[in-house]
Amino acid sequence: MDRRLFIQQTTLAGAAVLAGCRPDSAVRTQGAYPAGPVPGAPTYTAAREASASAGSVRQVRLVAASVEVEVGPGEVWSTWGYNGSYPGPEIRLREGEHLEATVENQLPEGTTVHWHGLPVPNPMDGVPGLTQDPIPPGGSFVYAFAAEPTGSYLYHSHVGLQLDRGLVGPLIVEEREPHIAYDREVTILLDDYLPGAPEPLAAGGRGGMMGGRGRMGQGRGGMMGGQVPPYAGLLINGKLPSDPVAVEVRRGERLRMRVINPSGATTFRFAVGGHRLIVTHADGYPVRPVTVDALHISMGERYDIVLEANNPGAWPIAASTVEGDSAPAQAILRYRDAAATRPPDGALPEGLGSGHLLQLGDLRGMEDAPPAAQPDRTFDLTLSGGMMSSVWTIDGQAYPDAAPLEVHEGERIRVRMTNQSPMLHPMHLHGHFFRTGDLSVGGVRKDTVLVPAHMGRATFEFVADNPGRWFFHCHNVYHLEAGMAREVRYV
Ligand code: C2O
Ligand code: CU
Repeated sequence: MDRRLFIQQTTLAGAAVLAGCRPDSAVRTQGAYPAGPVPGAPTYTAAREASASAGSVRQVRLVAASVEVEVGPGEVWSTWGYNGSYPGPEIRLREGEHLEATVENQLPEGTTVHWHGLPVPNPMDGVPGLTQDPIPPGGSFVYAFAAEPTGSYLYHSHVGLQLDRGLVGPLIVEEREPHIAYDREVTILLDDYLPGAPEPLAAGGRGGMMGGRGRMGQGRGGMMGGQVPPYAGLLINGKLPSDPVAVEVRRGERLRMRVINPSGATTFRFAVGGHRLIVTHADGYPVRPVTVDALHISMGERYDIVLEANNPGAWPIAASTVEGDSAPAQAILRYRDAAATRPPDGALPEGLGSGHLLQLGDLRGMEDAPPAAQPDRTFDLTLSGGMMSSVWTIDGQAYPDAAPLEVHEGERIRVRMTNQSPMLHPMHLHGHFFRTGDLSVGGVRKDTVLVPAHMGRATFEFVADNPGRWFFHCHNVYHLEAGMAREVRYV
C-alpha cells in the first residue's frame, strides 16, 4: 500500500481513539504516570484543584519548593520540585489551547521556568538575564502563551544548575489528528539522580571521577577525565531500578511512549525488551515512521515511539548511559494477562547493545521538504573547552563574555558546529525550530541536536522569524553554566 495512504488511514484511526477519551484535566500529578496519562484514566484531585479550564486558556499553578521524594525503597531524596513532586506534574494541553502558568517561588533563591521547545514570545521564555529577572523567593510570575505547535515538550528551571535538582516536568500538547494510530500512551522521563545539591564541576575530571558514578564503573569519559557529577543512579519517572514503575498493556494494543530526557548531564540509549520501536516524532514533530531497536536521546531531546504489543510477558524498558558507565534506568512493560509481573533479574533489552540504532539521518518530516536554499548567513562554530580548563566554549568564548550571534528578521540562518572535545554536546536553540539531519532531502525539524564527540559535526538551519533575544546553548547544564552558550540577537 502506498505509504501516504496508509498514514492517512491510520491518522483517522488515531483521531478516533483520542476523541473518545479526552483527559479532562490539564495537570496530572506524578502518580498519574507511567500508568497514565492513559486516555480515559481517572483524574487527580490535587491536579484538578491546580488547574481550571477557562475557554481555551488552561490555567496551571506551579509551586517550586523543597520536596522529599522516594526514588527507591528507603531511598528518600530531599530536593526541589514543583507542586510537591518530582518529576513535576505533567501539563497536558489540547491543540489550540493557551497556557497560563502561575509560577510561585518558595525556594530560598530566584528561579524561572523555561518551556523547552515551544517557540513562545520572547518575554515568556524564562531565561534569566536575557528575557526576565529571576522570580525572587516568595514571588510569582505568570507565563502565558499559545501552546503550539503540538508535541512532547518539557518545562524546567533555567536558573543555574536547578534543573539537575529536580525542577523539571513534562509538557504535552496533544494533536487533534495524530498521524499514527495508537490505543494508549505513556510519558517516560529519563533522568540522572544526584542525591546532593549540584555544584559546578572543577577542571580536569574531578567530580565524577572520584564521585558516585565511579562506584558503578569507570568514570564517564574514561581516561579523558570524568567531568560528570557524582550521580548515584538513573531514574525512569522518578524511580531507581530497585523500584521500577510498570506500564501495563493489553496484547494487540499499540502503545505510544513519549520519551523525554530532562537530565542534567546524561545521554541515554533507550530500548525495550522483546519489542521494536516505531519512531513517530522527533522533538514533538511528526516524522515518517522508522522502525529501530534502540535510540540515543540526549539532554533536552524528545522522541515519541509506538510499540506494538505483540509479545506477551513482562519486559524491561531500559536506558543506559551511552558511555555505559552506570547501571541502566529501568521500568517494566507488563502485559495485563502475563504470568510474570517483572522480567527475570538482570534481564536487559538486547537493543541496549545491538540492533539497529536510530540515526539522525533516518528522520524525515511528513511533508516533502525541498533541499534547503542557500542561507543568508552562516555561522561556523567550534565547541570546545572543559577537560583541562573549567570553561566550556563556543568558538573560544565563554558566556556571558561572548559575542551575540546577530541575525536579521526573515533571514535563513545556517549553523555548522564542530565538536573539538571528547564529550557530547546537545545544542539547543530557544524560540525556533530548525532543520537538521539529512538536509539534502529536507531533514527533520528539531530544537535540540546532539553533536558527536571527537570532531563530530552537526548542521542546522532555521528562519529568523521570532524576534527577540534567544538563548542557544549546550543542554548539559554543567557545560551551560561553564559558558557553552550564546545569545542569538535580532538586530
Ligand atoms: Cu531546555 Cu535553554 O533550555
Ligand atoms: Cu556540552
